[in-house]
Amino acid sequence: MNRANPLTLLLGVAHPVLLAPMAGVSGGALARAVSRAGGLGLIGGGYGDAGWLEEQLVMCAGERFGVGFITWALHRQPRLLSRALDSGAQAIMLSFGDIAPFAGPIRDADAVLIAQVQTVAQARGAVAAGAQIIVAQGGEAGGHGGLRGTIALVPAVVDAVSPVPVIAAGGIADGRGLAAALMLGAAGVLCGTAFYAAIESIADPRAKQRVLEASGDDTVKSEVFDLVRALDWPDGPWGLRSLRNGFSERWANDVSGLRSVLDEEQQRYGLSREQGDFDTAAVIAGEAVDLVHAIAPAADILLSLVDRCREAFASAP
Ligand SMILES: Cc1cc2nc3c(=O)[nH]c(=O)nc-3n(C[C@H](O)[C@H](O)[C@H](O)COP(=O)(O)O)c2cc1C
Repeated sequence: MNRANPLTLLLGVAHPVLLAPMAGVSGGALARAVSRAGGLGLIGGGYGDAGWLEEQLVMCAGERFGVGFITWALHRQPRLLSRALDSGAQAIMLSFGDIAPFAGPIRDADAVLIAQVQTVAQARGAVAAGAQIIVAQGGEAGGHGGLRGTIALVPAVVDAVSPVPVIAAGGIADGRGLAAALMLGAAGVLCGTAFYAAIESIADPRAKQRVLEASGDDTVKSEVFDLVRALDWPDGPWGLRSLRNGFSERWANDVSGLRSVLDEEQQRYGLSREQGDFDTAAVIAGEAVDLVHAIAPAADILLSLVDRCREAFASAP
């Protein structure tokens, strides 16, 4: 996109497209590729593996990039934020938890604080706590998220926090989605599922193949994968959207049954991850998987999104 807006000016990007900081998918190579193509790549700091994060930060040295953290996990290891800032991250995205304690250090480092929210009330709270950009995430999104749909949530958040720039997320994976988001008043988009199968993504090749073959009809929101991965998510309305597989089919409607055999299932699950058995291990993706058709360079994915958005506007009546 050639026209600058408050988001592209704040982030210094050519295109209003951000790579979601996907744990287990968005490593340094993918973040760098998206940034070099004119968007902003965010490394997925996830649950806080310090050694892994260090390696990804090295890959992005000297580049324009950001890092995303799961906020409640960052509370347990706040020094990871300092590492990201010291490494030159220009933006920090925080999702799921209280961002207030981190706003000061991010501002002091001249980095941009991006907060991902799932409701209008959370958006207002995040701005009051110091967020400079809001990501309004609809429940279509891959990964953890809330219940509201993107198309109604985005304009409501735009109205609530104006003039703070709002980014739409959840279900956006091609130029039609980008065009729609801009029409809803968003200043840009944050895409996860669209980049899952990028060449630079660190997702397992067998999981990428499943994404190529899946439809959004095949996704399910459930707590069972968090339970079996021993991820102690705090109480909140954030189910995990992933592809339906043998494991979710067996347990999604029998969570208490899963709890009763959790030790065994955790062992079996750990093995399945090592062996690349994705009929048990989770493939985390959102409803937009219908639009992911090829393993392609991240730059091609981003530039095709932008080109198709231009075409969508050009063909508007
Ligand atoms: C594989 C995967 C992993 C994700 N991991 C994270 C994460 O670690 N932290 C986070 O804030 N969001 C995470 N998300 C959610 C994204 O930030 C974003 O909201 C979502 O990808 C947008 O919807 P989309 O998948 O339809 O593009 C993840 C999403 C996916 C698909």
